[in-house]
Amino acid sequence: YLAPRSGATGLQKLVISAADLHEGEAKFFEYGGSSAVLIKTKGGEMVALSAVCTHLGCIVQWVKEQQHFLCPCHGGQFAIDGTVLAGPPPKPLARIPVTVTGGNITIG
Ligand code: FES
Repeated sequence: YLAPRSGATGLQKLVISAADLHEGEAKFFEYGGSSAVLIKTKGGEMVALSAVCTHLGCIVQWVKEQQHFLCPCHGGQFAIDGTVLAGPPPKPLARIPVTVTGGNITIG
């Protein structure tokens, strides 16, 4: 889990250092009281998503080898942009805005 740089809890915005995340990797963190994930794509783009499966609410896992998400509960699969690839989830994972300024990534 990523720790917010500012000490306050309950903030919607989270700022982390871009150097903390490598291409193809995902980091899970708390966002707005639930689980979320930040991915750096192999092209270097930052994507933040809710990690809560849209089927029945399990927390999805990042499958680094395949660059997609897998839900451990019923096998739902989501692409790196949150779209549904397979399984029962009815909707994409919710996107969270990401801004990259200099070396910092601001989520939310
Ligand atoms: Fe994720 Fe059912 S809760 S596939």
